[in-house]
Amino acid sequence: MKTLIRNAQVVRPLGVESVSVLVEGAKIAAIDPAVHTHADRIVDATGLHLIPGVIDDQVHFREPGAVHKEDLRTATRACAKGGVTTFFDMPNTQPTTTTQEALQQKLALAAQKSLVNYGFYLGATEHNVQELRRGHRTPGIKIFIGSSTGDLLVDGQEALEQIFCETSLPICAHCEDETTIRENRARWGDGSDVSQHSRIRDHRAALVATNRAMDLAMRHRHRFHVLHVSTAAEIPVLASCRPYVTAEACPHHLFFTVDDYQRLGTRVQMNPSVKTHEDGMALWQALHNLDIQVIATDHAPHTLEEKARPYPNSPSGLPAVENSLALMLNQVHLGRCTLSQVVHWMCDAPARVWDLMHKGRIEPGYDADLVLVDLQKKATILDSQQLTKCGWSPWHGTTLTGWPVSTWVMGHEVYRNGSVDDSRCGHEALFDHARGGYWSTA
Ligand code: DOR
Repeated sequence: MKTLIRNAQVVRPLGVESVSVLVEGAKIAAIDPAVHTHADRIVDATGLHLIPGVIDDQVHFREPGAVHKEDLRTATRACAKGGVTTFFDMPNTQPTTTTQEALQQKLALAAQKSLVNYGFYLGATEHNVQELRRGHRTPGIKIFIGSSTGDLLVDGQEALEQIFCETSLPICAHCEDETTIRENRARWGDGSDVSQHSRIRDHRAALVATNRAMDLAMRHRHRFHVLHVSTAAEIPVLASCRPYVTAEACPHHLFFTVDDYQRLGTRVQMNPSVKTHEDGMALWQALHNLDIQVIATDHAPHTLEEKARPYPNSPSGLPAVENSLALMLNQVHLGRCTLSQVVHWMCDAPARVWDLMHKGRIEPGYDADLVLVDLQKKATILDSQQLTKCGWSPWHGTTLTGWPVSTWVMGHEVYRNGSVDDSRCGHEALFDHARGGYWSTA
């Protein structure tokens, strides 16, 4: 099957070109093919932009174990709508993904259920270094240096030293310091007001844990990715730790602040907590400077019933895969960044950080994971229209300009103008860790 996407504004690393793209099977066969090239299907993309599919390197899709919140089918329907063509799922499922066997079971499940391409992290515990050493078919190792949803936590220095010393897969971590959180809780109490969450999981908790992880990464010369950076204070640390360290920001830390607790309550309760307007501005600046290279969602669905429990019994996390690209396209519309930057942060950079093969760019020979976006399209996010099983969005009521209109996964058009085609599954993501990560590739 050959598809010609004709006359798109194609976003490539060296700029935006008005060209046609030929897709053959699961691959991009040619850019600007000869005028008379045969195609089985022609898509007229005049007036639209074609970008590589979004690679979301941090999601919590809840399967196995909490499929009342989300499962691989509902989550990936949401991905298709949102322009996310590859996801990497976190290990805090039930059971946790802390053995190669558990990881392979998730891969087998995804092969049956996921509409987009998939990868799964191997989770670290205080005692599973042997498993982490033999880990494969994975983007890397995830450490919770600071607990969040579930009970995965590695806080002991000896265990952390061993993981950084004895393993070779890239590592990423949730950085919030347990001791600081405990001290804050003892000092302030949990209270029943959700805004307390940002006082308990405060700036210091984030900075202490990030500093601790940086020290490990630098001493052991181990590739390390800081997940969901939330404070201005962490940024200078990141910049000083190249070439071992890369970092990620999430839409919720870019768009929400502590002031939003009043309007949104536990809907904006997440870990790391939301911080101040100044922190958000610093994250934007760090993205512009490439001190932070990746934008990912930390999609963490919980039902509204669970969210309605009084704080601190309400769970942390919010859904986002279905709107993350549109939220960023709206920023392009507002002039805060360019479409090329969005493609760098959401497509090219995550592919490079995790040594993902054949993805993140529109080049001949790359996988045909593509998204057509309409930068003029205006629509409002509504809870009632969300495809995520949890059925709500913290951005409910927000009108955005710039939306994905078609999504292809390995050459198959999985989403077009409001309809998901769930007749085919995505593929397992492939990694070549010898490539050496973001700073070794251009
Ligand atoms: O708020 C969060 N929720 N942060 C995390 O790191 C985990 C996530 C979840 O799984 O619910």
